[in-house]
Amino acid sequence: MTHRVFETGISAGHVQAHPLREHVIIEANAGVYERLQAFAATHPSVTPMFGFWQDVVAQLEPGSFDGILFDTYPTQGEEVAAHWFFFAEAHRLLKPGGVFTYFSDEVRDFSPRHRKALADAGFTDVVAEVCEINTPEECLYWKDKTIVVPICTKR
Ligand SMILES: C[S@@+](CC[C@H](N)C(=O)[O-])C[C@H]1O[C@@H](n2cnc3c(N)ncnc32)[C@H](O)[C@@H]1O
Repeated sequence: MTHRVFETGISAGHVQAHPLREHVIIEANAGVYERLQAFAATHPSVTPMFGFWQDVVAQLEPGSFDGILFDTYPTQGEEVAAHWFFFAEAHRLLKPGGVFTYFSDEVRDFSPRHRKALADAGFTDVVAEVCEINTPEECLYWKDKTIVVPICTKR
């Protein structure tokens, strides 16, 4: 099972390219959630959940996910680190051997503070895979040509 947020559905489409028993998607925006429902209608493994993950995540069973992709972006005035408190939830929800990844907001490696937040949540097996990206000039939220893709495995 995979658990994530929706918006354009790009990542959902990639996740759906793999065989899945269940694909849980949490989305808090009502308009985006409508599109998610349409997506779920044509992708039978999708279980859509409406709401902020902070409000609905407790409904999900501990140790039941093979993979988690977390891709919220901070609301105005918040720093990305404000969402790091999801790390403990990701650790709780994964099966042993399950993998958690997310928008890292890091260019080449985790900061020490970032690594500590992962370790405090229980993630001791953490790889920073550096991915080359062809960032368009007009992109407003990312200017660099690389990004760290976190591969956090629950041991
Ligand atoms: C960067 S987009 C996700 C893009 C997605 N990976 C894709 O490929 O389309 C972030 C999404 O997270 C949703 N979101 C933001 N904060 C959230 C929260 N606390 N709980 C659930 N969804 C949230 C937003 O409404 C938005 O649709």
